[in-house]
Amino acid sequence: MSKQFDVIVIGGGPGGYIAAIRAAQLGFSTACIDEWKNAAGGPAPGGTCTNVGCIPSKALLQSSEHFDQANHHFAEHGIDVKGVSIDVAKMLARKNTVVKQNNDGILYLFKKNKISFFHGRGSFVKAAQGSAGYDIQVAGATEETITGKHIIVATGSNARALPGTPFDEVNILSNDGALNIGAVPKRLGLIGSGVIGLEMGSVWRRLGSEVTILEGLPTFLGAVDEQVAKEAFKVFTKQGLKIELGVKVGEIKSTKKSVSIAYTNAKGEAQTLEVDKLIISIGRVPNTSGLNAEAVGLALDERGAIQVDGDCKTNLPNVWAVGDVVRGPMLAHKAEEEGVAVAERIAGQHGHVNFNTVPWVIYTSPEIAWVGQTEQQLKAAGTAYRAGSFPFLANGRARALGDTTGFVKFLADAASDEILGVHIVGPQASELIAEAVVAMEFKASAEDIARICHAHPSLSEATKEAALAVDKRTLNF
Ligand code: FAD
Ligand code: NAI
Repeated sequence: MSKQFDVIVIGGGPGGYIAAIRAAQLGFSTACIDEWKNAAGGPAPGGTCTNVGCIPSKALLQSSEHFDQANHHFAEHGIDVKGVSIDVAKMLARKNTVVKQNNDGILYLFKKNKISFFHGRGSFVKAAQGSAGYDIQVAGATEETITGKHIIVATGSNARALPGTPFDEVNILSNDGALNIGAVPKRLGLIGSGVIGLEMGSVWRRLGSEVTILEGLPTFLGAVDEQVAKEAFKVFTKQGLKIELGVKVGEIKSTKKSVSIAYTNAKGEAQTLEVDKLIISIGRVPNTSGLNAEAVGLALDERGAIQVDGDCKTNLPNVWAVGDVVRGPMLAHKAEEEGVAVAERIAGQHGHVNFNTVPWVIYTSPEIAWVGQTEQQLKAAGTAYRAGSFPFLANGRARALGDTTGFVKFLADAASDEILGVHIVGPQASELIAEAVVAMEFKASAEDIARICHAHPSLSEATKEAALAVDKRTLNF
């Protein structure tokens, strides 16, 4: 008889491994299947996020930020450094070590929580005989079939390729290759000025590449609050990122040494961009390949994502799906929240994910972070609101840090003062946004934040001041 589990999770990214941990905490016998291999062919759980996403990109952003600081900002502190150079191989090796620490951490967590980990590809075989549940085949170093009463699918997403231009990961790179460029390219091109385009563009620009980003849409960061997007565009352009909006990409030709991209610019003029490496970052597609969804009739939507309801239930009894493989933002913390909520629903509890308080962060310099509604969304919905902003230029800690770019902006309901959105562009925005998320979860008003004591000197005082600005009573500006 096959091994029996209460819960089998297919996919060990942030959606899957966190769902498995929560299921095990709730007393279920739990298995997690993940096929990601490290360079030696061993298991590397953690999915896109750990292996080729959140973690390695932040490692490279940190290394390149240090390089940028040493080259351009140490001098103003009186620190004289000469001959700063970058050893790209060492930087990549450090990044790989950080990734491995995370892979190992997850394997440890599986052991700690008594989760059975299977390294290989998991696919549906059939509904199990006799009882509710499903037989799942695991194809790894060995093959076996295991049976689960509940199945949680968390198979993630893959980079979207441009039609006719497959990734070769040498010259034409997805996020995977973008994190492994062995030497600083003189000229780097990116298609798509979304989150990956800006983060990866920033890494290689700081290290010395001439970076050009070609964006199809006429607006920059359309989902971001307009005032924030405008400020970010100004700063990124000043830093040296060349961003062309409203382009139409045509033929891409790759030779051994370079890539040429034919495109039409916003004025309709034919152009050609010649680069040494090209990163294509035009979004991601849900990954259901190899899952054998057809065998059990698991329904997909028109985008190829697994179709789920608000509770992450699929069309099949006891089959759930979470993370990038379903609708909603493709973010690690959204995947994790869904994983926890599903495990709790299986246990008969009332797991809940509040999509309105899922924060977004873009880890550029300055960082961009937001939660809730943008000003343009509130206008479109006809919601009456009051706005208040505070610039980091007027914040003592930001001055001491030497990083005064950007501002914090609050949007609050005109009648009740409830916080509807908080938007930050500036230093440590990724950390500052947490206060706004907590406030919105507790349905706080802007006045609540304005009345709370914030440590001095700290960047968080800019948050308090922006909340005060809603009532037009900033103290330091
Ligand atoms: P994934 O992380 O994709 O994990 C899915 C796992 O399932 C993989 O290990 C895959 O190998 C495995 N799998 C698939 N099919 C099978 C199968 N049939 N059998 C067994 N295993 C299978 N998000 C953030 O929130 N913050 C960030 O800073 C951030 N940075 C990013 C940077 C980059 C460059 C990229 C590409 C993404 C980034 N993201 C970030 C997005 C984030 O990585 C994803 O939202 C997140 O990984 C989704 O988690 P998941 O568990 O749904 O899927
Ligand atoms: P994205 O959706 O953020 O941006 C893609 C960009 O490409 C858009 O601006 C789009 O208009 C443009 N585009 C699409 N097709 C195009 C074409 N043919 N020509 C020119 N431009 C085109 O997607 P991205 O950057 O690939 O990242 C994928 C996802 O990964 C993100 O949406 C996000 O969910 C996640 N991610 C999150 C990060 C974070 O939280 N810090 C970091 C990196 C990725």
